[in-house]
Amino acid sequence: MGKTLVITNRKGGCGKSFTTANLFVGLARQGKKVLCIDADNQHSLTVSLGITEPDELPVTLATVIADIIAKKNFDPTEGIIHHTEGIDLLPANDSLTGMELTLAPLMGREIILRKYINKVKPLYDYILIDTCPTLDVLTINALAAADSAIIPVTPKFLDAKGLELLLRSISEIHEDINPNLNICGILLTMVDMRTNFAKELISMIENAYSEEIRIFNDHIPHSVRAAEASATGKSIFTHDPNGKEKAS
Ligand SMILES: Nc1ncnc2c1ncn2[C@@H]1O[C@H](COP(=O)(O)OP(=O)(O)OP(=O)(O)O)[C@@H](O)[C@H]1O
Ligand SMILES: [Mg+2]
Repeated sequence: MGKTLVITNRKGGCGKSFTTANLFVGLARQGKKVLCIDADNQHSLTVSLGITEPDELPVTLATVIADIIAKKNFDPTEGIIHHTEGIDLLPANDSLTGMELTLAPLMGREIILRKYINKVKPLYDYILIDTCPTLDVLTINALAAADSAIIPVTPKFLDAKGLELLLRSISEIHEDINPNLNICGILLTMVDMRTNFAKELISMIENAYSEEIRIFNDHIPHSVRAAEASATGKSIFTHDPNGKEKAS
């Protein structure tokens, strides 16, 4: 049964989509069967995995959600795209934008995605969900379906209040909707250890959170190659095969 991970932070641009794509290509390279679900209506994960015309796709996360709401019988693997680097992707496109309104009045609106994931879980070792930078109903669906949350934080700007609100929401979802949910850890992204500012922010984050939450020792370094990779439709492993593995 696949373990479901959600990559989430209310802060925009902190590396959620980059982490999702590359963490999972990394797992696929270790022989794991992985599915990424793009639950962000800006669908940058879908685009960064090389889907240049997402609006042309016949089946996306929005279609799947609509089928579950309509209680249709459907093939849950329909619409899953097989990326050349070994990961599967349930993509998103603009039609996900309207889903917020469709879901709003529904009973059980927080657990629609869980119903889909329960259908595909037996097929994968890992399922990873990329979320948008707000705690909208889709992000709540992702947290309600997940076993663990990874929180990317970039030591360029610390949105301490946003992080507190996210932690509180995760704790509420754990209590009310999904007792399986735990926090896997804070992952520092786009780290540039050459700057004192980054070092200071990292120690602030460690001081504030390391007693209650694991902070991964491995950081994702800031790298021009990483920024380029998102635009090429390739993972960092293919785009920069000789790149450094860790931030120094
Ligand atoms: N390690 C890195 N080094 C340099 N640039 C990076 C790195 N990781 C991501 N980026 C770039 O930073 C930008 C934001 O990254 P990404 O899209 O992953 O963030 P996000 O948290 O998903 O954003 P959003 O909240 O808008 O969904 C992108 O242009 C991406 O290419
Ligand atoms: Mg994103």
